[in-house]
Amino acid sequence: MKFLGLNDFQFKDQRVLLRLDLNAPIEDGEVSNDERLIRSLPTIKHILNNEGRLVVVSHLGRPEENGKHQPEFSLYPVVKRLEQLLGRSIDLILDLDDLPSVNQGDMIVLENIRFLRGEKSNERNLSKKLANIADIFVMDAFATSHRAHSSTTGVIEYSNKACAGFLLEEEIKALSRIINNKGNSLAVLGGAKISTKLDLINSLSKKMGNVILGGGIANTCLLAQGFSVGNSLVEESMLKEALELAERENVIVPKIVVAAKNVEQEGSIKPIEDIEEEDSIFDVAPQSFKEHQYLFDAASTILWNGPMGLFEKNSFAEGTNAVAKMIVSSNGFSVAGGGDTISAASKAGVLDELDYVSTAGGAFLEFIEGRKLPSLEALQLKLKN
Ligand code: 3PG
Repeated sequence: MKFLGLNDFQFKDQRVLLRLDLNAPIEDGEVSNDERLIRSLPTIKHILNNEGRLVVVSHLGRPEENGKHQPEFSLYPVVKRLEQLLGRSIDLILDLDDLPSVNQGDMIVLENIRFLRGEKSNERNLSKKLANIADIFVMDAFATSHRAHSSTTGVIEYSNKACAGFLLEEEIKALSRIINNKGNSLAVLGGAKISTKLDLINSLSKKMGNVILGGGIANTCLLAQGFSVGNSLVEESMLKEALELAERENVIVPKIVVAAKNVEQEGSIKPIEDIEEEDSIFDVAPQSFKEHQYLFDAASTILWNGPMGLFEKNSFAEGTNAVAKMIVSSNGFSVAGGGDTISAASKAGVLDELDYVSTAGGAFLEFIEGRKLPSLEALQLKLKN
């Protein structure tokens, strides 16, 4: 996948519209996890250091698209955190029709683009308006590149010059290394619902060497295979699909689990055959992964998405912690991403030891599944034109 990059353009005195994904969690009016902001800094700094006139655009959350300012979805806390990270003051601009001119080497941030009608429907007039703000459009919001919105996709079509930022390039390089590996590869996939990950598991089990399942996904597979899983979290409506997956030769469903009558009890390690009617499976037992140590040893790439159990509770975090440690102890190139995976990796103390941690959730899963992401398609077309 090839795009124009930041190094293909001169930014001096150019008006630059930069799409970032600054969709960070906000708690008590403050950014509670600034990872997406920190990972956006290299692109921001490159444009400022090269004397561009920078306008940043992002969404935050899912506000109503009604043209009205909704304080609970304001980018204000994000701008405050960016000011700290960059050591400069930054104006947050409410009105797209009343943009101030930006000095060379300076920046402003536009208020949440999802307040504007037309953003999510990729409406032509909004896309054109955005494109007209700038001489160069830079797309660095990989985490929103699966959305065909005005600020991620339409704007590219109407911009004279458009390129990818450093984070987007880095994400694609790391994730491509996983999906293009023709050697020994391993995917470790957990999470609550098989329905949300069915396409991913399907696609990975065809593309990758081996796939190890955990979490509610594994419970549903176990039930589909005819084991009793008591009161465990399962999706009854997915049994046919789960059985089809679980029967594939390269898909591993762990059979030693941690079960308890409820989440407040200590769990006991049990082989799946010993699960009683009142039991719920809350975790995979570490030894169930250890049996497959050879797969971790042989893998040249490892993809990790989703916790293996109820990792938020210490008594049911051992399976997730064990698999996390096995992943980072392998010599294979390890990539983690999507939803709860980062919190799980952080809790297991391995976040800094993974080779690559994606900033994306939905976009990460769609890219790995091999789907075409609209914003990336638009950027690629720009290269051809
Ligand atoms: C994300 O957090 O996955 C991205 O910011 C995209 O957000 P969305 O799912 O609301 O489009």
